[in-house]
Amino acid sequence: MKQTTIERLAKENLFETVGKEWMLITAGTPENFNMMTASWGGFGWLWNKPVAFIFVRPERFTFPLIEQNDPVTLSFYGHDPAMRKMLSFCGSASGRDHDKVKESGLTPEFLPEGGITFREARLTVVGRKLFGSDFTEQNFLDKDVLARWYNDQPGGSLHKLYVLEIQQVFEA
Ligand SMILES: Cc1cc2nc3c(=O)[nH]c(=O)nc-3n(C[C@H](O)[C@H](O)[C@H](O)COP(=O)(O)O)c2cc1C
Repeated sequence: MKQTTIERLAKENLFETVGKEWMLITAGTPENFNMMTASWGGFGWLWNKPVAFIFVRPERFTFPLIEQNDPVTLSFYGHDPAMRKMLSFCGSASGRDHDKVKESGLTPEFLPEGGITFREARLTVVGRKLFGSDFTEQNFLDKDVLARWYNDQPGGSLHKLYVLEIQQVFEA
């Protein structure tokens, strides 16, 4: 895995990369970390910085690890069926009940300036949290979105938005 430039992200079709390829969000310390699959998010430019946006429900085991640690990494694995299986596993099993590193077969990589990713990743974005904001019901301008995606069932809670300043990008 080698470091590349933030401009490397311009080579990606980021709608596809986030929405169709999916990613792992990883946070924690080398002694205590966890990763979860995400397919909602974005990349952009805010406060004159390159940023990423992620949306995490507070019931995720990864959530307090994101809250308590920086940086957070977003990593991408391509469309290989084995990687798809891994992402489905990391998007359905919780670190609360599973040793997700062991069960996924992924190989952790501890980046020199902080951040945890996996050797299998084709691309890793390292980000530092700049901003966090809980979604609230009243802020939904289209209430159909609220009704479609949020409810009182487990896994139905309102997301928290994080804006991450992109600090480093690594590629395989
Ligand atoms: C394709 C896919 C995309 C997902 N996207 C998100 C997301 O953007 N935000 C989120 O909070 N959960 C998302 N999830 C659900 C979490 O990955 C899932 O609840 C996971 O088991 C949480 O793991 P943890 O409890 O170990 O943190 C997604 C799941 C899948 C399969």
